[in-house]
Amino acid sequence: MDHRKKLLFSIEQIEERVEYLAQVISKEYAGRELILIGILKGSFIFLADLVRRLTIPVMIDFARLASYGPKSYSNGEVTITKDIETPLAGRDVILVEDIVDSGNTLAFYSEKLKAHRPRSLKICTLIDKAQRRKKHVRIDYCGFKLQEGFVVGYGLDFDERYRSLPGIYIIEQDTSEAGGNEET
Ligand code: PRP
Repeated sequence: MDHRKKLLFSIEQIEERVEYLAQVISKEYAGRELILIGILKGSFIFLADLVRRLTIPVMIDFARLASYGPKSYSNGEVTITKDIETPLAGRDVILVEDIVDSGNTLAFYSEKLKAHRPRSLKICTLIDKAQRRKKHVRIDYCGFKLQEGFVVGYGLDFDERYRSLPGIYIIEQDTSEAGGNEET
């Protein structure tokens, strides 16, 4: 079944925000070498577009994290299913997410990464659903704020579908079906 979807952010709007974020980051880290860590899978397109717009040298790594059980009644426990391979000690690091929702994923992983003693550790997300936060996460760079709705496209999925859509769409559905980035 194909879900009914409504365009929320067009490719042009996304490109404009990604360019803006890349300019801000390039300026703030001028003269330094940055490590960007993409949180799989959702961030892969955002990260790919962001790094190609940076004007500073950058190294890239990935991590994959999983929440125990269905998100809607997750107790916030997160596990690392693929960790980074790059040493972070003394380095400037930015974690790159497609969406921050409850904050469980990044609250957990940023604490883990602090043990590597990076010089700095910041967070960049394309979408921030701040109103649904359960754990405090400081967002340093944000593309869009979203109040409600289940979003897909540009890396974001519904049951692994729709990641390849170029724009970002809201799924129009019965809320009882929602999972992933929209808990009920
Ligand atoms: C999504 C998103 C974040 C996380 C945010 O990943 O990419 O990693 O959820 O939610 P939180 O703030 O409530 O922890 P998901 O687990 O859906 O995996 P995916 O990136 O592979 O789609």
